[in-house]
Amino acid sequence: MNKKISVGEAAELNRQFENSSTEKILEWVWNEFGKRAAIGTSFQGAGLVIIDVARRGGLPLPVFTLDTGLLFPETIELKKRLEDFFKIRIESLEPELTVDQQAAEHGPELWKTKPDDCCWMRKVVPLQKKLATLEAWVTGLRRDQTETRKGIGVLEVYEFDSVLNRDILKLNPMARWKREEVWDYLRKNKIPYNPLHDRGYRSIGCVPCTKPVSDDDDDRAGRWIGFQKTECGIHTFLERKKSK
Ligand code: ADX
Ligand code: SF4
Repeated sequence: MNKKISVGEAAELNRQFENSSTEKILEWVWNEFGKRAAIGTSFQGAGLVIIDVARRGGLPLPVFTLDTGLLFPETIELKKRLEDFFKIRIESLEPELTVDQQAAEHGPELWKTKPDDCCWMRKVVPLQKKLATLEAWVTGLRRDQTETRKGIGVLEVYEFDSVLNRDILKLNPMARWKREEVWDYLRKNKIPYNPLHDRGYRSIGCVPCTKPVSDDDDDRAGRWIGFQKTECGIHTFLERKKSK
């Protein structure tokens, strides 16, 4: 378990946070962990709200993104715009192999044949390395994104024994937010967002695995079309403990 917080305490905090604002949750994270906590974002709506709330609250939580080398040019451009807008630096975490090296070692266009392997090398491993330096990971996961995310807690405890012999806390301070609330917030506060959202893209990841969706689809319907796959693995490789 985390040095400071037992599984039982985490369960109690999770209950309390159910009625706390995003700002209050981020304040707690900052006070508890400082720079041993970080916000992970792919610059989609919820992540942008978190960064803005943190900045307004004077909470200089570090921000990182997993740059797979296969992101849309619009996403890369957005990263720069956000750094200027928020006056922060966003750390890019890159995989060990470039896309060309991966093609040479594991076959071309691995996302077409073995997307789980591709996500593992390009997202999960770089994330694991980052989490090994942290005690708390802040994400933009929301319950209304998909059926599978309906049950997420605001604070969850995960075993991180695969890399380190300890646990890590995951905070989902946007868990309760609905898609419309996120967009209202972004518009009201004039926060730069990915222009692909205006072209029918709802959930935006790597170019080969992201397609536009229709209004009736769920938020992540445009990811990995043609595969059973619905998660890249960054939210499933850790083993969740009973913190609910
Ligand atoms: S995911 O399947 O790509 O993980 P989604 O795009 O819905 O799902 O993002 C959910 C949350 O996962 C984001 O709010 C963010 O916290 C984290 N996340 C997803 N992609 C990245 C990324 N490229 N870099 C950092 N964090 C990410
Ligand atoms: Fe590879 Fe697609 Fe996963 Fe990106 S989303 S890492 S291209 S399989």
